[in-house]
Amino acid sequence: MDEAVIKKPIVIPDDWPGYSLELFSYPEHYHEDIDSVYIPHGVIMNRVERLARYVMDDFGDSIVVLCVLKGGYKFCVDLVEFIKVLGRNSNKYLETRVEFIRLKSYLNDQSTEELQIIGSRDLSFLRGKSVLIVEAIVDTGKTMKALLKHVETFEPKMVKVAGLLVKRVPNMAEDLTDYVGFEIPNHFVVGYALDYNEYFRDLNHICVISKIGKMKYKQEQSNG
Ligand code: HPA
Ligand code: MG
Repeated sequence: MDEAVIKKPIVIPDDWPGYSLELFSYPEHYHEDIDSVYIPHGVIMNRVERLARYVMDDFGDSIVVLCVLKGGYKFCVDLVEFIKVLGRNSNKYLETRVEFIRLKSYLNDQSTEELQIIGSRDLSFLRGKSVLIVEAIVDTGKTMKALLKHVETFEPKMVKVAGLLVKRVPNMAEDLTDYVGFEIPNHFVVGYALDYNEYFRDLNHICVISKIGKMKYKQEQSNG
């Protein structure tokens, strides 16, 4: 355990155009709906493997992984798989238990005011445990702060946060996230379980949605 190890994210600059779509394989039905392959799936996977190593180094012998659905599910599955593989190939095995929480705070590409915790609000199984919150994307950190506050009420031994993506927004929540995959500009991205109104979760790469895509899958605000 070396506190001096600095866990830098991969920083994607503002002018990164992504890769042209025809260079990659992706579901054909989305060809008008995305502008570019922003982070290819293979790059995501290798980065997740690196994060798994950091987690192995920092935690003791067991953790509860709290996966934030739905966007966090792929990141969570891959991270836990890598933790298991690393454990089998070393003399340190980190036992993982996975639990899920569902949050919703976005309509279209806009953050809505209130945080809704859908599904299990009772997290009493976290008491005394080392907890790793696994979230796909952290921007202002409003959602994460609310979730952390909620989690803390159940008195876990320690809590860390893994965010695959952290967005460079004004007042970005850098210090909330202990393990960051990529720091990205303030674009709305989809794929690798990140959605736009539930679309694009079946895309493996992280991509930038096109104007056409935003129009096509737009939803009106509903009160229901
Ligand atoms: N994509 C998908 N979901 C999100 C994003 C994003 O860029 N930001 C917050 N939720
Ligand atoms: Mg969403």
